[in-house]
Amino acid sequence: MRYGLDALNLCVANDENIMTDRTRRGFWAIGLVLALLAALAAFVYLVSEAHITARYTLPSSIMRPAKAPGAVRRGAHLAMIYGCADCHTARGRPAFTGNTLHVRPGLTLAAANLRRFLKDRGPGLFDIALRRALTPGALAIWDMPSNAYVYMSDQDIEALLAYFASLPVIGPRPSGMSFSFRARLAVLAGTLRPANPYDLGRRGPRELGPAYDGGRYLAMMSCSGCHGADLDGKPDHAPDLRIIQAYDRSQFFALLRQGVVPAGREAPVMAKLAKRRFRAFRDYEINALYDYLKARAQM
Ligand code: HEC
Ligand code: HEC
Repeated sequence: MRYGLDALNLCVANDENIMTDRTRRGFWAIGLVLALLAALAAFVYLVSEAHITARYTLPSSIMRPAKAPGAVRRGAHLAMIYGCADCHTARGRPAFTGNTLHVRPGLTLAAANLRRFLKDRGPGLFDIALRRALTPGALAIWDMPSNAYVYMSDQDIEALLAYFASLPVIGPRPSGMSFSFRARLAVLAGTLRPANPYDLGRRGPRELGPAYDGGRYLAMMSCSGCHGADLDGKPDHAPDLRIIQAYDRSQFFALLRQGVVPAGREAPVMAKLAKRRFRAFRDYEINALYDYLKARAQM
């Protein structure tokens, strides 16, 4: 076939038209995808933001620093064995002056400077943060073991308050919390949740009567943050404390004081805790823990 010049020009023009049609359609498609992505991102942001900024009813508290002689020392001991320093002290900084915690990829929380918080906010709001998992702004707290602390006795709270009030107020506030897009997705999926202030304390470990109450209480305060509110363990983290069946009393002392398991090797996390924290346990506290955990494991 032969093309005249006109016919040839027509073909070229058609080709160009087809191309521009195609590119136009391409642009539309890309634009549509981008718009959908933006809408999706806005959706994730808004819904997660609603969870993050949900407000609760702030209860009141009449807790005050204990005045009794010895209260400050008792409070110092409790702050040690209940693990407040684990999260509220930054490496190389004075104790309890706060810490910026990278809790998981994309989630950063500011664990308060406890000295400053108590001075600025007062003992009532301190108590409500600890036992009711609520900030002074009535927002839920994300990463404190308040499921265990909800059981803390008034007496212990007042001793802790006496101790923190006795410390000089130094250091700045740690910087604030931030949620990455990934953390917000986890909030949306329900795999990242704050403490539910209306649902604290529903899952305490098994009660075994007054003879074991002291040990149960200590286990809730000192162990359940990692071993689970019911002490049944957390998957991929810390085992069910029924593992105590493998321990006799002196082996249990060795675990809490030196972090070694019956086979003689160090348990990595427990060894750190032993050095930092659990070596402060008194003998009678370790005995009470052992009796309760052993009895629980035999049920
Ligand atoms: C596992 C880490 C962890 C432990 C253990 C812990 N905290 Fe916290 N705490 C936090 C974080 C993180 C925050 C910041 C709020 C949040 O999580 O949303 C916080 C906040 C607070 C607040 C202030 C709430 C606010 O508005 O900032 C107080 C008071 C407090 N903690 C006291 C204590 C005391 C007392 C102990 C020990 C009995 C303790 N915490 C143990 C992680 C911890
Ligand atoms: C900060 C988290 C954390 C706290 C708090 C904690 N544990 Fe553990 N525990 C672990 C982890 C993680 C393991 C697994 C072994 C390891 O890494 O040390 C473990 C292991 C154990 C084991 C088994 C060791 C073995 O392999 O035989 C026992 C028993 C135990 N913990 C008892 C306790 C008791 C009792 C308390 C409270 C006084 C406590 N833990 C508090 C994290 C914790």
